[in-house]
Amino acid sequence: MVKEDCIIVENRQLADTIWTMTMKAPLITQNYIGAGQFILLLIDRLSEHPLRRPMSIANVEGDHLSIIYKTIGSVTNEMIHLKPDDTIDVLGPLGNIFTGFENNMNPILIGGGVGLAPILNLQKELKESTVIIGARTENEHFLTHSIETGLMLTTDDGTLGIKGTVLTVLSDVITKLLKPAIYACGPTPMLKALQTFTIENDIPAQFSVESYMACGIGICQGCVIKNSSKISNSDPTYHKKFDLVCTHGPVFPAEEISFD
Ligand code: FES
Repeated sequence: MVKEDCIIVENRQLADTIWTMTMKAPLITQNYIGAGQFILLLIDRLSEHPLRRPMSIANVEGDHLSIIYKTIGSVTNEMIHLKPDDTIDVLGPLGNIFTGFENNMNPILIGGGVGLAPILNLQKELKESTVIIGARTENEHFLTHSIETGLMLTTDDGTLGIKGTVLTVLSDVITKLLKPAIYACGPTPMLKALQTFTIENDIPAQFSVESYMACGIGICQGCVIKNSSKISNSDPTYHKKFDLVCTHGPVFPAEEISFD
């Protein structure tokens, strides 16, 4: 992990409230190990927001690093005003990566909301995969729906792609693939539904979990998540029951996550 002042190369809108930012990050990209990792941003001009914001890495090419972000608060609404050649204070890369890609496995990558950032990053790393990206409506999508290329978009209201949720498509896709494995990132209700589905159908799955983070490096204990496999242990102490999303994750085996 390094702290670096990164020069912004591009900052542009992709969809209604979705933006992408690319920055030059020679030190962070040197330490980058794969999809799943994230960075922490500090927006200098927002002195009332001293905490860094976690952002999944959406792409790394050479010394360039990209993120995808949604304008949902004062920090991200300030970020859209950053221009090429502005600098941004970044800490990273942090966290673990998606793993377990065996021969003959058919990876199904599922993203919802800005959870699509690490999923698109993973898609680039894998030779072949099926990708399902869910959103509420067409304004939140910026990709092209194409069953032929294995990139399927869903919308709750049916305005683009397939009407329904990612589970609507997954339930169909899963019947046509041998040895499927699921990799997902997105809002908690989506991950909860996917967890139930993967456990019931005995499909290996890894989820990248989103969390509020104050420090991002294991100090503040602000990103705890219950670990189901540990909860059943006889030792009830805090560190035996919980994981930290920032240092143990953000990627966890689906069956280990307790969303309660
Ligand atoms: Fe501080 Fe994880 S964000 S411990």
